Amino acid sequence: MLADEKVAYHGLGPATRPPRYLAGNNDLTPFAEPCYRLAMQKRALITGITGQDGSYLTEFLITKGYEVHGLMRRASLFNTDRIDHLYHDPHLAGASLTLHYGELTDGSGLRRVLEAVEPDEIYNLGAQSHVKVSFDVPEYTAEVVALGTLRLIEALRDYGLHSGRQVRFYQAGSSEMFGAAPPPQNERTPFYPRSPYGVSKVAGHWFAVNYREAYDLFICNGILFNHESPRRGETFVSRKITRAVGRISQGLQSKLYLGNLEAERDWGFAGDYVEAMWLMLQQEKPDDYVVATGEKHRVRDFVELAFAEAGLDWLAHVEIDSRYLRPTEVDALQGDAEKARRVLNWRPRVSFPELVKMMVKHDMEIARRERAISDAGFADPARGAALAGG
Ligand code: NAP
Ligand code: GDD
Repeated sequence: MLADEKVAYHGLGPATRPPRYLAGNNDLTPFAEPCYRLAMQKRALITGITGQDGSYLTEFLITKGYEVHGLMRRASLFNTDRIDHLYHDPHLAGASLTLHYGELTDGSGLRRVLEAVEPDEIYNLGAQSHVKVSFDVPEYTAEVVALGTLRLIEALRDYGLHSGRQVRFYQAGSSEMFGAAPPPQNERTPFYPRSPYGVSKVAGHWFAVNYREAYDLFICNGILFNHESPRRGETFVSRKITRAVGRISQGLQSKLYLGNLEAERDWGFAGDYVEAMWLMLQQEKPDDYVVATGEKHRVRDFVELAFAEAGLDWLAHVEIDSRYLRPTEVDALQGDAEKARRVLNWRPRVSFPELVKMMVKHDMEIARRERAISDAGFADPARGAALAGG
């Protein structure tokens, strides 16, 4: 690669040194020099960039003029579907998204990426984020969610010390930390987690608070309630339902197997919630915030609404499978986001019925395409069939 092309990639004047990373479509090539930056342009580093929130946050920050760097795991298949539309060939001018291989289990790699990127803001979204799966892989979940957070803020602390820069840090906390504490839950509600995932998030939360107090770091904990979207992973209940609605309406499947229909959740739209993450880091002082809609609905309500949206009777299609029950359930989550409203001036824009509608519409379209492929004689097994749901 020519030096000029690297310059074009970072949108700067002629380079005397190559940028540290070149992220090609299929290949990530590490360099040994720091990245250059445009004066005034903020630079963000996102862990979990390939996930639902990572993709919305990347879009949001690029719109705000940020240069975005993301940590991604090596996978045997491409795992960048959610951000491919944001990715520009690094050989073209104006590209503002760069990917770096990394893992929250790999402290030395995290440190290298931090040194290379020199971020102004870090968003720690990376996690084994499935509650039910955390009962199957508890040690790994704790390794990534609890210790991964510690590794990253330890790296942040050292980086701050030797660079003299103050980097702002967002920690992705969860309403799962409240667990069995009765609703409504806010920043003063005591935590009572009910899964290895919830316990690990509580550890991450307290690491963040402790490092903020001990080392004067700018760290904010967002305590976000469930947020969904058409990009939601297909084994979370909302997307599992809307994918099934699409496929049932196209005659591609007839049954949907679910677990506990009585659990209540405060469901919002992911696109709204990433704005709250950013707002937290723009405040004068670091603090912790609950982000939620303030409404709760049962899983059963989500099912009813989603099937009705497609003109289907859910009772004819939904069956209970005890494999989807959890050893300990979180019965009811409903957030009180008064502080986020007051201090951040944040409000959710998308209502519960609008969210369900948006997701059903999207998944009906996918199912129509699947149907067309199937009618043309090219039917593949449904994606994720080997996992049967989640
Ligand atoms: P998600 O879709 O499951 O994405 C998780 C991201 O973390 C993916 O990019 C994943 O990479 C990455 N990741 C997993 N293990 C990792 C590891 N060992 N090292 C580095 N990265 C790793 O989750 P999300 O819904 O976007 O949620 C974002 C964050 O918010 C998570 O921390 C989640 O726990 C938290 N949260 C989510 C909600 C919600 O309702 N969505 C609510 C509260 C808190 P791959 O793509 O390679 O798997
Ligand atoms: N996944 C799933 N699959 N959940 C089901 C099913 C099913 O077949 N049937 C019923 N449920 C119930 C679960 O028992 C739970 O009470 C509720 O649906 C929501 O489950 P999920 O969509 O898996 O989300 P979650 O609430 O456990 O966790 C999500 O939200 C947390 C914030 O509260 C995840 O995104 C976490 O990462 C996040 O922290």
